[in-house]
Amino acid sequence: NSTSNQLLVIFGASGDLTARKLIPALYNLYADGHFPENFVVLGASRSNLSDEDFRKRVVYESEFLKDEVKSRDKEFIKKFADMMFYTDLGDDYDSEYSGLAKRINELNSEHKTDDNFTFYLSTPPSLYEPIAKNLYDQGLTKGSGSDKGFRRIVVEKPFGYSLETAKELNAGLQKYFKERQIYRIDHYLGKETVQNLMVTRFSNSIFEPLWNRNYIHHVEITNAETVGVEKRGGYYDKSGALRDMFQSHLLQIVSLIVMEPPINASAEEIHNEKVKALKSLRIMRDEKELFDHTMKGQYIASSINGKRVKGYREEEGVDPESKTETYAAVKFFVDNWRWKDVPFYVRTAKRMPTKVTEVVIHFKTQHHQVFKNQDINNKDNKLIIRIQPDEGILIKFGVKVPGQGFKVERANLDFYYSSLSDNNIMDAYERLLLDAMQGDTTLYARADEVEAAWAFVDPILEYWAKDVNVNTYGYPAGTWGPKNSDDLIEDANGWRNPGEL
Ligand code: BG6
Repeated sequence: NSTSNQLLVIFGASGDLTARKLIPALYNLYADGHFPENFVVLGASRSNLSDEDFRKRVVYESEFLKDEVKSRDKEFIKKFADMMFYTDLGDDYDSEYSGLAKRINELNSEHKTDDNFTFYLSTPPSLYEPIAKNLYDQGLTKGSGSDKGFRRIVVEKPFGYSLETAKELNAGLQKYFKERQIYRIDHYLGKETVQNLMVTRFSNSIFEPLWNRNYIHHVEITNAETVGVEKRGGYYDKSGALRDMFQSHLLQIVSLIVMEPPINASAEEIHNEKVKALKSLRIMRDEKELFDHTMKGQYIASSINGKRVKGYREEEGVDPESKTETYAAVKFFVDNWRWKDVPFYVRTAKRMPTKVTEVVIHFKTQHHQVFKNQDINNKDNKLIIRIQPDEGILIKFGVKVPGQGFKVERANLDFYYSSLSDNNIMDAYERLLLDAMQGDTTLYARADEVEAAWAFVDPILEYWAKDVNVNTYGYPAGTWGPKNSDDLIEDANGWRNPGEL
């Protein structure tokens, strides 16, 4: 794939994400030789900065690039920094757009970026539609002349707060951009191991024949983080784990496990299958089911390695009586031919003992046990896909313990990505930015996917918000969640806590 000359406009350029993720990702693309000949980054936001101020902030004095700035050749860094420009949008986004358009057009002719523009919105979602409208009004959403350049818009998560708001956002963007021009970021899709879910399934004849209700007992997904809400208490308290992680990242992972094989690996065919998968999740409407199949929790203060760790309600920006969940677990079913009656258990939480994301496919045990002395809790085959860290795949299978009789033990076939000779795993943002620059939407979420995910999550959120019978269970920071968290997964012998053999 080649990358055309282009100009990337970043809205919200003085914000944290730009300095922490976007510019370092761009820098890596630059250092790895992925930039086209002519490339310009135009930062735009409300802060009053000059081009030089912006370069200092995101390159020369950035804490995220300091090692590179220190160790690399000065000219090399300067060449990168000199591609950065900045324009001030003032307080009133609307009236400033003619100035923005002028700057874009000037930079475009000066740096020969061929009329190709990508707009990256690292702003609150409430600004998506106003920005899109302003770009449209300035004639920036469509290429001009005989040599039409491309126009793309990239938006960050959270994409919506509910099904209704997600629909509004989609409609707002689609008034001014065509769906194929819209790139909705879900940075989990940029992770190699998430993409590898499809490759594991569809390039091996040893997994796919077993990938169904006849052989799979249940599917378990854990996403654990050690961090708390960090400095994002204000945002997080209005969001919670279900919106922040489950609706987006985890349901994207689910869609890749559930989906049918696409006809080919084109973006459209993959999206078609993913949306079908998401639509087949059985939406829970019955209150008893919602009660039995969902659980929420919140971390409470504790001591980790002799150091006191704050409880969620003490965090800055969080309501001291907040019921927002930092732990969410959901059991659900998938209503289709392949998955009928196979339970899926998915949990996500902050302040757990370790940072890990993994998918465990638990296979059914043999219908007739030949060897009587197998450990009752450990007799099934498992396929464990480690999304992060220690990216890799582990298969657990039975082997004979040497010696008399037929004692069976579980052994591991363990693959680590780090053992590949070419194991240069691209950072998720790097990968996604490069795809957007090249016009590949495969790893971006399509409108109907996002809406299908919200359609599943909405009734849970509504049920939790009613708050009649739903407890927010406390769990000490640094533990695997509420004491009774195994109740939800009782029928499957409790959660597998990653790290366990
Ligand atoms: C973000 C969430 O989307 O993903 C954060 O808003 C979370 O709350 C983060 O910490 C986790 O991403 P990763 O790549 O560290 O697993």
